[in-house]
Amino acid sequence: MTILKIDRVTKQFGGLTALDQVSFAVEAGEIRGLIGPNGAGKSTMFKNIAGFYAPTSGDILYQGQSICGQKPHSIAELGIVRTFQETTLFQELTVFENVLVGCHKRARSNLFNAIFRLDRERQQMAADKVIEVLEFMGLSDRREQLASELPLGSQRALAISVALASEPSLLLMDEPFAGMNPEETNHMMDLTRKVRESGITIVLVEHDMKAVMGLCNYLTVLNFGKLLAEGTPDEIRNNDRVIEAYLGGAK
Ligand SMILES: Nc1ncnc2c1ncn2[C@@H]1O[C@H](COP(=O)(O)OP(=O)(O)O)[C@@H](O)[C@H]1O
Ligand SMILES: [Mg+2]
Repeated sequence: MTILKIDRVTKQFGGLTALDQVSFAVEAGEIRGLIGPNGAGKSTMFKNIAGFYAPTSGDILYQGQSICGQKPHSIAELGIVRTFQETTLFQELTVFENVLVGCHKRARSNLFNAIFRLDRERQQMAADKVIEVLEFMGLSDRREQLASELPLGSQRALAISVALASEPSLLLMDEPFAGMNPEETNHMMDLTRKVRESGITIVLVEHDMKAVMGLCNYLTVLNFGKLLAEGTPDEIRNNDRVIEAYLGGAK
């Protein structure tokens, strides 16, 4: 079953065409890699899917329905959540509080409501959800630490926890492995697999080829805003056009 269909999406910024008639489809339950050189349009694609930008033309369908033109909060309510390239944790809040905020993203409550205002029953349900997510992501021991005190690997795991708290069906991960050492990379690969095994479809934008090739069952390659190739990790690794445009330099 197709969960996400990108249909001839074009995105222009003034005279620059960041995405040019890009089409691809993601099947429910997969880890799809979206790769390509810097400036290829990967983050722009995520921002279009998540509603931060509207495509200049083309359509985006989620579970068969067009989501083009919907606002980010509506798209999040439908179950599409993006983890940002830039870290967007509340550094001055604890691990627990950050995930608690994530619980209420989908319900459109503000931060104040999320922490102070809920009635007791909803507060308890939210707290239970936070505990469940922290356990799942291996962050239980750090729940009272400030986000700012966490090492890189745990910060990234926390960012995913915040996303999971809103119970997404489709998770868009933008460079979750950037800057990680091999040990952190292995741990994040395990976590990513675990998230997928819990029933969440993942689209992964990433330059770390060990992570991409190890995790993804299928890859979509962008170059200068255009679809360059699609295939299994083996097909992409051996694709001359991809090697020339991207992988030749990377590995
Ligand atoms: N808000 C914006 N305004 C103008 N140009 C943008 C904007 N966002 C991205 N771009 C341009 O679009 C192209 C694709 O960028 P991006 O999607 O960030 O690439 P990637 O994530 O693949 O590295 C780049 O040339 C970038 O400079
Ligand atoms: Mg990017």
